[in-house]
Amino acid sequence: MRKLTNVLVTGGAGFIGCNFIRTLLLEIPDFHGRIINLDNLTYAGNLFSLIEIEEKFSGTRYFFENGDIADKHIVDMVLEKYDVDTIVHFAAESHVDRSILGPEIFVKTNIGGTFVLLEGARNYWNKTGISKSDVLFHHISTDEVYGSLGVDGYFSETTPYAPRSPYSASKASSDHLVMSYYHTYNLPVTISNCSNNYGPYQFPEKFIPLAILNIIENKPIPVYGNGKNVRDWLYVNDHVLAIWNILTSGNTGEQYNIGGESEYENIKLLHILIDIIAPKIGLSVEDINKTITFVTDRPGHDLRYAIDCSKIKKEFGWKQTVDFFEGLSKTVDWYLINKDWIEKIRSGEYQNWIKMFYQS
Ligand code: NAD
Ligand code: TYD
Repeated sequence: MRKLTNVLVTGGAGFIGCNFIRTLLLEIPDFHGRIINLDNLTYAGNLFSLIEIEEKFSGTRYFFENGDIADKHIVDMVLEKYDVDTIVHFAAESHVDRSILGPEIFVKTNIGGTFVLLEGARNYWNKTGISKSDVLFHHISTDEVYGSLGVDGYFSETTPYAPRSPYSASKASSDHLVMSYYHTYNLPVTISNCSNNYGPYQFPEKFIPLAILNIIENKPIPVYGNGKNVRDWLYVNDHVLAIWNILTSGNTGEQYNIGGESEYENIKLLHILIDIIAPKIGLSVEDINKTITFVTDRPGHDLRYAIDCSKIKKEFGWKQTVDFFEGLSKTVDWYLINKDWIEKIRSGEYQNWIKMFYQS
């Protein structure tokens, strides 16, 4: 089992990154290391998600550095200051709709930022002379790099890349860069490509938290196109546990697909969500149904994603632990309870984004 001592988490103030930090420090007794969270707190990054971690571990096992992964000086400084041996790279621009409206930052952060991190790791680990078996660069990626499926079939680790949005193209480019550092410089890397995540602390521009909040607030729920697009949903904690397996036991140079094996058409998902939420907020299913609003489709909207995750199941014995109905119910409860978190993230930039999106 690989030992993780000084773990640099990029994008730890975002949705999956904060769940990762919380799980490692609060729930995995086998993890004894320190976590350094490098995040430049874009609209999607929120330290409010890590208050408990700050309180319990700040200055001992948790450190926050406010900085851009595309800034070489900051990256080099952080690697050296904390003598980093493991990099878990979450930081990215992550929303497809935003990538359609403004692709430039996706190229800068997702491709440029990943490049700076790779160079930083290569140089720092060469300089210290640390054994290659004691370091790892793990890159978090998405199933969207594989493109769009028809009504059947699955993405496996050998499916050729065919990204179709600026977001997925930028993630695909970064995956290629990561793998090139393995082949060219022998940098110890792993990559995971995961399906759609949902759960606590997700910014409400993504479909599930957006739908939950709009239902609670009696606002229209926008469904793109005919609502027949299919996504494969995974509860965020199961993603985190899969990453933990790869970090501790994964083989370098390998790619791992992670999926929920839980495929739903968007419209079907919405009806399940409404059935779950209605009794919790004392509204009737019929009344909530009236707020479903079919809107113009997303350009280049991928029809279906579905992951074959047999490799990670076989290699690590990993499996999903939270079923979709249970996960949705837990997620709804979380958003109902954590109103102060929602208020916080709804200031400033978020409001501008919502305005821009609905005017476009
Ligand atoms: P998110 O948008 O919630 O969080 C991204 C985080 O990265 C934020 O904290 C943000 O402040 C930070 N960040 C952005 N640009 C940065 C920069 N230049 N320097 C430093 N920090 C920066 O994203 P997420 O949903 O948590 O996704 C995390 C990773 O997982 C991404 O790489 C994404 O592509 C991948 N992924 C996400 C999903 C999903 O369903 N959310 C599924 C598969 C893969
Ligand atoms: P999203 O959460 O943005 O994730 P991704 O595009 O990365 O899969 O969207 C999930 C699905 O829901 C996708 O098919 C687009 C659709 N969608 C809507 O129908 N309405 C919405 O308001 C949003 C944000 C997404």
